[in-house]
Amino acid sequence: MHTLLLDAKQKGAVEKAAEILRNGGLVGMPTETVYGLAANALDGAAVAKIFKAKGRPQDNPLIVHVSGFGQIGRLVESVPERAEKLAEAYWPGPMTLVMKKSPLVPDIVSAGLPTVGIRFPSHPVARALITAAGVPIAAPSANRSGLPSTTTAQHVLRDMGGRIDAVLDGGPCGVGVESTIVLLTSDPPRLLRPGGITLAQLRAVLGRVDVDPAVLNPLPKGARALSPGMKYKHYSPKANVIILHGGEGDYVRYVNAHGGPGVCALCYSGEESLLRVPAVAYGGEKDYPAQARRLFDALRHLDDIGAQTVYARCPKPEGVGLAVYNRLMRAAGFEVVSVG
Ligand code: TXA
Ligand code: MG
Repeated sequence: MHTLLLDAKQKGAVEKAAEILRNGGLVGMPTETVYGLAANALDGAAVAKIFKAKGRPQDNPLIVHVSGFGQIGRLVESVPERAEKLAEAYWPGPMTLVMKKSPLVPDIVSAGLPTVGIRFPSHPVARALITAAGVPIAAPSANRSGLPSTTTAQHVLRDMGGRIDAVLDGGPCGVGVESTIVLLTSDPPRLLRPGGITLAQLRAVLGRVDVDPAVLNPLPKGARALSPGMKYKHYSPKANVIILHGGEGDYVRYVNAHGGPGVCALCYSGEESLLRVPAVAYGGEKDYPAQARRLFDALRHLDDIGAQTVYARCPKPEGVGLAVYNRLMRAAGFEVVSVG
């Protein structure tokens, strides 16, 4: 299959992508978080192609994207008041709400669960595409299963070229990590995956919000994941990522003492010049939004330069830093070495 590259700025590009979606095809779609692999959510056969193209396990449900709050009514059993409040505050934006699904949502979308995750993205190209398609859009991140999510159209092409009908290029993603997922069917509501909307922002609207243990810790063997995506090895480059816990001086000393063929660093901005191994910086130490924006791109870049072992700096699990921490810990398979 030839994959069409469509520039969202060109006249007719969004319409063309929408037509592909209406005809049951797959389109790489820019969103403010990461690129999505889009299909008509109401077309079970189209959704099945997503799982095949990604190599995604069948028991991992997809998020359904809408271009207006009014569209969620027919996708869910009922709209909880907590959903209205969160939507009012943070939609359109990087937040997914998990609610009881209606029979209209095919079982393949929810992977057999009684719930569905719904998101109203803020990216203007995503909104225009969903509106033009005229249907809700199922979309996981547009990467091969297990690899870091894609944040540029070029990365989508590299992972999915030849496997999908088109990629709509809307430029690099602004947030850079996937949406915050909130489970609204439990009391109190529960954070299943941290993202651009922070825990503090959720609590400001809802009061109490619990953090699912899978956000911070590896899932114990045999345990059931509330968010099935959390049980898979994830966001992993080919290289072996090891997080070094300690201050800048200790980090630099450790890395420089352990240099060698294939050894690289994933460091904070300004540390490159102190390191004697190839180093990729992904933002300032306290600049969590920059780290989120650049993390997946940096992990892919490290693979490109032939990294075998990556010694990484990892932020504190606070604010948007919690999302970065969550992704980086998974990329590292929770391997942390204390150097301080
Ligand atoms: O920002 C995002 O959320 C991106 C863009 C494209 O919108 N999408 C995304 O999709 O990250 P994906 O499929 O890569 O991750 C979705 C996560 C998975 O971990 C999945 O298990 C979880 O959401 N999920 C989806 N539906 C769920 C449900 N009904 N209950 C619990 N978890 C759910
Ligand atoms: Mg994903």
